[in-house]
Amino acid sequence: MKASQEKLYIPEHIGIIMDGNGRWAKKRGLPRPVGHTYGAKTFKTITRYISQQGVKFLTLYAFSTENWKRPLEEVNALMKIFRQYLIDSLTDFREDDIKVVFIGDRSAFAPDIIDMINETEEVAKDRKGMQLNIAMNYGGRDELLSAVKRLCLEAKEGGIDPSAITEQDISSRLYTAGQPDPDLIIRTGGEHRLSNFMLYQAAYAEFYSTDTLWPDFKPEDVDKAILEFNKRNRRFGGV
Ligand code: IPE
Ligand code: IPE
Ligand code: MG
Repeated sequence: MKASQEKLYIPEHIGIIMDGNGRWAKKRGLPRPVGHTYGAKTFKTITRYISQQGVKFLTLYAFSTENWKRPLEEVNALMKIFRQYLIDSLTDFREDDIKVVFIGDRSAFAPDIIDMINETEEVAKDRKGMQLNIAMNYGGRDELLSAVKRLCLEAKEGGIDPSAITEQDISSRLYTAGQPDPDLIIRTGGEHRLSNFMLYQAAYAEFYSTDTLWPDFKPEDVDKAILEFNKRNRRFGGV
């Protein structure tokens, strides 16, 4: 039973905090990186399924600005998985016409990863389907800090009047410039926090947390989240 077949309102923009890979592996007595490998499979299945539901924007949180704190071994394993993912991504999602974009500070990655990120975006740039934002070395605070720095520079150079800065001036300097805010943010792995994900954009997002660990997350779980979203009463501060 697909969410799109039930006359449900389909969110325009969904964000997912893909959490629980490490615990998934630990439960099976496997090293944490194995969980990330299985998580990468879920990433592809869920992206494709969500695009088939008619969602216009999907933002997947893959690596935070704080994840560099992890043991070097795990970070290296994640980088290896990203490399493989980036190789696959040149062909992945082509049939689904999914446009792939990376958000976050890519300058921190190794030069070959940066090249692959740029190439993947270039190959997908004219696609007309869902836009997939992959958040890598992404942090909401870092994103806001960059926007503030740009605004200060523009003010200093006389291009912008500080007293006339609007919310629109801020959002147009975020990685998600021009995109609608997320309507629904799903977090797998059971935690009830944003962990620095889309801090500005999440102002009125509906938050949905599930105990399911990311490698176990299935299309039916997306349906459940969309169903729950349809029961929410979004007031945006009104009555
Ligand atoms: C999410 O899974 C993936 C990344 C943050 C890169 P975790 O690695 O955080 O898994 P848990 O939360 O430790 O189980
Ligand atoms: C959030 O998960 C980051 C990603 C899913 C990429 P974390 O596992 O890093 O978050 P915390 O440490 O539980 O807050
Ligand atoms: Mg985690």
